[in-house]
Amino acid sequence: TRPLKVALLGCGVVGSEVARIMTTHADDLTARIGAPVELAGVAVRRPSKVREGIDPALVTTDATALVKRGDIDVVVEVIGGIEPARTLITTAFEHGASVVSANKALLAQDGAALHAAAVEHGRDLYYEAAVAGAIPLIRPLRESLAGDKVNRVLGIVNGTTNFILDKMDSTGAGYQEALDEATALGYAEADPTADVEGFDAAAKAAILAGIAFHTRVRLDDVYREGMTEVTAADFASAKEMGCTIKLLAICERAADGGSVTARVHPAMIPLDHPLASVRGAYNAVFVEAEAAGQLMFYGPGAGGAPTASAVLGDLVAVCRNKLAGATGPGESAYTQLPVSPMGDV
Ligand code: HSE
Repeated sequence: TRPLKVALLGCGVVGSEVARIMTTHADDLTARIGAPVELAGVAVRRPSKVREGIDPALVTTDATALVKRGDIDVVVEVIGGIEPARTLITTAFEHGASVVSANKALLAQDGAALHAAAVEHGRDLYYEAAVAGAIPLIRPLRESLAGDKVNRVLGIVNGTTNFILDKMDSTGAGYQEALDEATALGYAEADPTADVEGFDAAAKAAILAGIAFHTRVRLDDVYREGMTEVTAADFASAKEMGCTIKLLAICERAADGGSVTARVHPAMIPLDHPLASVRGAYNAVFVEAEAAGQLMFYGPGAGGAPTASAVLGDLVAVCRNKLAGATGPGESAYTQLPVSPMGDV
């Protein structure tokens, strides 16, 4: 069988791990897919940066030319942000490639249009890595629970803020002190706005709600409140009530099934709830489905290797689909339900 060709867009923390695992696990990947996968090109912004283990001949700054080559089977997009990622993905579909993306911002904003473009060209669009890093969520919701009815998804989907809130809870530290420690340890970015103001979690909530309820939810539909106002005094009162405080993404189907809710805000959680015990920078998502009951998905929600694990899983799935001459269950039929930001809870 001819090798399946993979183009990697972006070679930062996640991309370089994807390339590394593709090389070190090449035999396993070949066995699981049924054909070898070959890294055919790596598009980067700064070509001079040394990238260990990557053949310099594969490195290019021209991502557009790479996705237009016509012989690429799968494009792995780990650049993030809206543009140029969006144009590169649609160009990839037009030129015969399926796409694996880790881009939560793009999927939360333009998921519907990207799905439509994938279907139009008969390609796959997989994005397990866009929500909660290594934790399998997209495919469990899209596939394993496809025969059930999900009514609620409740999650800690941002590791940085969970680290900060956990620190405040366990040490009595104030917000700024805990944020400084998160920054010093490399959890929080130099500009932590996307995390602490809830934008990152809101993008993930939009993606999860759309998949869980077979509808479309965009970032703008999600009510969002960050956690910068949570104080040490709030934690003291929560403790008195037998609770802790977490930044939650809450996605719910209305009781009558006619609308859905997606919101992100700090919430009190009873200490005996499984989400209360999620410590440090970990993520966890609690799913309630009619037949399945309560499920919890837990694990590392960020970082190079964990996120690469999710990307590689998608890569295997997309390659298998390709060899089978099929596409996966990405664009199942959906009903557009109204999204009410606060719901009735
Ligand atoms: N900034 C995110 C977090 C990274 O802290 O969870 C993963 O999307």
